[in-house]
Amino acid sequence: MTGYIFFKHIHMTAAVASGAFFMLRGLWMMQESSLFNAKLVKVLPHVIDTILLVSAFILVGMMGSFPAFVQVKIVALFVYIAFGMMAFRFMKSWGARVFMFFMALLVFAFILSVAITKQPQGFLSAII
Ligand code: HEM
Repeated sequence: MTGYIFFKHIHMTAAVASGAFFMLRGLWMMQESSLFNAKLVKVLPHVIDTILLVSAFILVGMMGSFPAFVQVKIVALFVYIAFGMMAFRFMKSWGARVFMFFMALLVFAFILSVAITKQPQGFLSAII
């Protein structure tokens, strides 16, 4: 296995773990479960997301280029993080938190579609 493929697998695994765990936290938030505030549940996403980002930057370094789809992924990642922070930290009402959570999920799905198609417009290619 080449180094690139190795880091790509780490990146993809971290991406799936990040999305799955985000959904789980969203469910716990909607149920107002005490698990949502558990220490491990607050720390683990930072560990997973650090692995996701470090592997991403290693891949970009190994690619030796900076294609448009990667640029879009970086910007969309900030949008995903912003919606996630609003859902889990800043919004106070249940309805606003749920809305921000689903917006974050939509952006996550967009990032996945950009990753898989390697096209900057991702699933938006169906409408633009
Ligand atoms: C939530 C954030 C992210 C998710 C869910 C995600 C997901 C993925 C997935 C699933 C792949 C594999 C695509 C395939 O080959 O089918 C991939 C590849 C890749 N990602 Fe990400 N990614 C994320 C963030 C980033 C960021 C921020 C960067 C850049 C700094 C990045 C750079 C790359 C690169 C360079 C590849 C390899 C492309 C290739 O050679 O095929 N990713 N990503």
